[in-house]
Order: sequence, then C-alpha cells, then structure tokens
Amino acid sequence: MEETQKYRLMHEIHEAFTPGAPIDSKDLFAGRKKQRERVMGTIFQKGQHAILFGERGVGKTSLANTIYDFLVMMGKFKYQRARVNCSEETEFGDIWRSVFKQLTYEPNRDVTLSLEDALPDNPSPENIKETFQLMSGPSIVVIDELDRLGDPDIQTRLADTIKTLSDNAIDTTLILVGVADTIEQLIAEHESIQRALVQVPMQRMSKAELLEIVDKGLFKCEPLIILPYVRERIADYSHGLPFYAHLLAREAALNAVDAERTVIVIDDLEYAVKQAVDSQLESMLGAYNRAVSAPRGNNYKPVLLACALALKNEQRMFFARDVMEPLRCITTKIYKVPAFAKHLKEFCEETHGPILERRGPPRKVQYRFIAPLMEPYVILRGLAENLIKEAQLIPPSERSTAFAQLSLLPPASDPAIEL
Ligand SMILES: Nc1ncnc2c1ncn2[C@@H]1O[C@H](COP(=O)(O)OP(=O)(O)OP(=O)(O)O)[C@@H](O)[C@H]1O
Ligand SMILES: [Mg+2]
Repeated sequence: MEETQKYRLMHEIHEAFTPGAPIDSKDLFAGRKKQRERVMGTIFQKGQHAILFGERGVGKTSLANTIYDFLVMMGKFKYQRARVNCSEETEFGDIWRSVFKQLTYEPNRDVTLSLEDALPDNPSPENIKETFQLMSGPSIVVIDELDRLGDPDIQTRLADTIKTLSDNAIDTTLILVGVADTIEQLIAEHESIQRALVQVPMQRMSKAELLEIVDKGLFKCEPLIILPYVRERIADYSHGLPFYAHLLAREAALNAVDAERTVIVIDDLEYAVKQAVDSQLESMLGAYNRAVSAPRGNNYKPVLLACALALKNEQRMFFARDVMEPLRCITTKIYKVPAFAKHLKEFCEETHGPILERRGPPRKVQYRFIAPLMEPYVILRGLAENLIKEAQLIPPSERSTAFAQLSLLPPASDPAIEL
C-alpha cells in the first residue's frame, strides 16, 4: 500500500467513524427510520412538537441534527433552523436568545434582521410566540440536553411556550431532546400539552442498525472491506450503543490500514477491543477499577462481568438470579445468589461503586448499570483480560428488533458446586 493511499484511508476512517461526535449528515446516519418518520410527521403538522428521550448515548442528538438534511433531500428548502444546548446555568431567556440569534425575519423586502433584536429582556412564553410570528416561513428549533437544566421552573415555562405556540398554530417545530427513561423526567407538566407534544422514545439500536453504521462508514473508505464475521462482531459488542460501533470499527479499520491491508479481519477487532479499553475509554477505567479492586480470590471481576452478561429486560434491569448462569459460564463453578449478594450490594454503594443502581422492593430487587456505556465496557475488558473468550459469546439474532444482547455458551464440563 502506498504511503499516500494509507494517509487518505486514515483520514477517511476518522471522518466516517466518529465515536466522539453526533452525526450531522444524513450520509452517515444509520437506521432510526420509525423515529425519523415520527419527527417528520410533527414538522409537517402545524401545532405539533416533538420530544426525543432515551438513555445517554443512544443517538438522540444525531437524529435531531440530521432531520434538516432529510428535509432538504425531499426538496424542502424553506425551513430555517436553530439549535441550542442547555446546561445547568441556562435560563429560560438564554435558550430563546440563542435560538433567535440563529433565525432571521424580513420586516421589508430586501431587509433581513436577526430575530434576537426583536426579543424583549426576560421574555415570557407569550413574547416567544410574538417573536416567531414575525417570521414569514417555517422553522425547526432543537433544544438539546434538556435534562441538564437546573431550574425546574424552566420546564414549566417551556411547556407553556409549547402550549401557546400550538394554540396559535405558529409555523415552527420545537424538537426537545434529553436523557430520560420517561417524558415526566424532562417535562413535568406534560399532561397539559399532551396533544401538542409527540413523544419519540429512542431505544438502543437493533443489530441491523448497528451493522448499517459499519457499512455506511466503510462505504466512505473505499477500497476497505470487512470480513462478514468481524462486521457482525462489531455490532454484537456494541450492545445497541452506536458509540461502540463507531469506536470499534474505527480502531479495527485503522489497524488494518496500519498493517497495509484493505480487509479488516478478526485480529483487527481483537486489537480494537484492547485499544478501546486501554486507551480510548480512560474515563471508565477508574470506575471499573474501583468496582473490582479487591484482594485475590474475591471474585469482583467475574461477578461484575456476569452482571454485564446477565439477561436484561427492556429497561436494562436484571435480578440477582440472572447473574448465576453467566457466572457459571465464566468461572465454571456454580454460585448461588447468597455467594455474590454482597458483591451486588457493594456495587451499588461507595465501597465498590456505585456502578450499579438498585430498584424495587425487598425480594424483588432489580439492578442496572448506572452508565449505559459501562456495560459493554465490562464485557470488552473481560475479553481483553481473557476472563472470557470471543468464541464463548453467542451473538444475538440479526433479525431481532430489540437491542443486541450477547450471552455466554455454557461450559463444556459439568461445573463444580460452590456455595
Ligand atoms: N443513527 C446513527 N447512525 C450512525 N451513528 C450514530 C447514529 N446515532 C448515533 N450515532 C453515533 O453514536 C454516538 C452517540 O450519538 P449521539 O451523540 O447522537 O447520542 P445522544 O443520545 O445524543 O448522546 P447523549 O445522551 O450523550 O447526548 C456518536 O458517535 C454518533 O456519531
Ligand atoms: Mg446528545
């Protein structure tokens, strides 16, 4: 491989796989057809607005960012757009000042002014409506990171704004975005605006969607190709989180090019896994080490790995009993729940975490990884440290529409019983 081709490919790989940044062009945007159609529907229907919510890192911002591109693709050029990221210090007025700074109106022919100048200080929801009324065409306004707002009063005023924009059929669509399990966590007063606010829950990605990320990215890196099995493994290891598909595909592709190959093979993925856990995800390493650090023989590592591989429900929750089977596969010993109940408890506390959260009444307690990205990280670390072998992991079906969830092959020999 010539030096120039190598550098060109490296550049293209970095452009195609961006674990650190949301997607902002439709060419690299994979899947999410249903959710996209739902948001499009709100844009075409006056008086409707959308709220995108889900776990951290599932791809909410990417969807909101690329909607405009899809509108343009459909030949709809008339929309103005604005986007704002909230933070703890953001006030209600700050949101709208930032939004209107990005939008213009034409008070007379040949005169274009920023709407920011038309916004009064300390604006009320009514003022927001009046400012939008100055516009002659439609607009799309993305308000992201809603979960970070410090003052709950802002939620109330946002709900009032939606109500007045909707009641007056103002030709703008607000797309609210935030990390939450339920809409109540983002907009407490949502009952009053139920009809005006279309809910778009963002689940983890299906295996097919994750595969599409790999394909779309590699399409931009010609003549690079990937062996089918390796492509599938990247999707499996991602656990429904597009961040990992980007990270693993990028690192594997870079390794192949570094070795002057145009085919990505399983060794490249193995390298990518090590690279991901050792150098790319340092922020997670600290929390991981705190969780598993213990004198030898205390089993924190295999128990945490078994938690990551335990069968989960839609909310990513699992019972203590669900840890038994993966723990048996990892250690080839049978541990009953009391043998690792202490570990689970400590993973939820300062002593070894908190890395898990606990919910539900006694005897029906369920657990969940607090940070969604931690769960695949623990599995990748297990692979990198040889606690489990790649060949032990059973892939989820490509046809399953739910998020991909790996499980372990049972050990070949009958395990010894440990209590
Ligand atoms: N539909 C998609 N196609 C391809 N890549 C995607 C898609 N959605 C998200 N990604 C990638 O996944 C990662 C996370 O995406 P994004 O930042 O949009 O998620 P988020 O839900 O907004 O995260 P956060 O909760 O941290 O704000 C990014 O690397 C992004 O490029
Ligand atoms: Mg985001």
